[in-house]
Amino acid sequence: MTTQVPANQMPRPANPHRGLMARVGVPLLERLTTPHSPDRYLEMLNPTWSLREVRGVVTDVRHSAPGSITLRVRPNSNWRGFRAGQHVVFTLAIAGVRRSRCYSVTSSEHHGDGRLEFTVRKGPDGLVSGFLHAELAPGTIVHITQAQGDFVLPMTRPEQVLLISGGSGITPVMSMLRTLCDEKYQGAVTFLHYSRTVDDVPYGHELAELAAAHPNVQLLQVTTQQETTPRDGAQFIPGGHFSLEQLERHVPGWRQATSYVCGSGRLVQEVRAVWAANELEHQLKAEQFDPPAAIVPSDTEISGNVTFSRSGKTVENNGRPLLEQAEALGLTPEYGCRMGICFSCTRRKTAGNVTHLYTGEVTTESESDIQLCVTVPVGGDVTVDL
Ligand SMILES: Cc1cc2nc3c(=O)[nH]c(=O)nc-3n(C[C@H](O)[C@H](O)[C@H](O)COP(=O)(O)OP(=O)(O)OC[C@H]3O[C@@H](n4cnc5c(N)ncnc54)[C@H](O)[C@@H]3O)c2cc1C
Ligand code: FES
Repeated sequence: MTTQVPANQMPRPANPHRGLMARVGVPLLERLTTPHSPDRYLEMLNPTWSLREVRGVVTDVRHSAPGSITLRVRPNSNWRGFRAGQHVVFTLAIAGVRRSRCYSVTSSEHHGDGRLEFTVRKGPDGLVSGFLHAELAPGTIVHITQAQGDFVLPMTRPEQVLLISGGSGITPVMSMLRTLCDEKYQGAVTFLHYSRTVDDVPYGHELAELAAAHPNVQLLQVTTQQETTPRDGAQFIPGGHFSLEQLERHVPGWRQATSYVCGSGRLVQEVRAVWAANELEHQLKAEQFDPPAAIVPSDTEISGNVTFSRSGKTVENNGRPLLEQAEALGLTPEYGCRMGICFSCTRRKTAGNVTHLYTGEVTTESESDIQLCVTVPVGGDVTVDL
């Protein structure tokens, strides 16, 4: 059995008039308002107005679990919609420096009032998450990108879905679960979540309510630290981290499910290994919030100098990602995920060779756009327009 998203429940399409405005009106306005961009004038009238950028106003912020806040943002009309599981990049100026970080939309694709929900967990010494926790209040204007990422439910819904998450990795799969429930999806859904304690789960009460209201939704919560009485509707599994044995015992149909995992690198790697050992990788989609293991270039590949031409700074290549080498020189290029997902750190390489830390792909063209966070200079001098 498959379920197709009903036409009236599709994510809202872009405004067709915006295409014409973008092609004709925006370039004209930009010429008329030179030297400043039209946005500079528009934001004097209303800080959410922009010709191209997505900006949003925070409408409410609440503490949803210890260490987590949940916020709702009403985006401006440039927003083109999202699919359950996608994220946006927030960019904020903190102490005069632009910082970007990815946050997954937690709303259902069929969210009724046009607001987007996000849940942000405050990391230890986390710069942006700490800032959001301290500073966000109703009325704050945030700058976000369009929704990105292919960690999404297929448009033709699968027969059976298994959603696995750990810690703050709950956010994209929460969006998937809400979306499926709103669509009255009839297939079996298992929601398997790992947290330190039951109380650490931001959507604990809503999850229990969804499981109680939808007989096809099975809610399994595994706690790694403290054993607590589970909420109604949730099946509680003491006993720590993910394992094949745990999966076989509690989710016997896992081999038939289309599966999603999101969380720390450790959880994602363990889940991937089980799916790979069973030759089921094609049925698993994974997203992790921290960087995967990198391919480290050999000592012979690490040579030459790195020049950041716009800043006039040169340093001996130490084999670290270009982002880190720039930061070590005191430069503050924009970055978000630091793992090749968000493209915030993209800059033009004008000379030399670089290798991608996770794919091993070598880029030799002199003029090419590279992601500073996941590229390392190899085999001689490299120049970057930064
Ligand atoms: C696709 C995606 C979706 C995400 N969705 C969510 C979500 O829905 N909710 C959520 O809470 N989080 C989410 N995240 C994580 C989020 O983007 C941030 O990584 C997280 O909030 C931490 O950011 P921060 O600025 O608070 O911490 P940072 O200050 O960036 O610190 C994070 C870690 O990086 C280390 N670090 C910081 N600076 C450096 C440096 N210069 N060199 C080396 N290491 C450094 C720190 O020690 C720390 O361990 C998502 C991430 C991705 C990739
Ligand atoms: S910081 Fe996200 S791709 Fe480099």
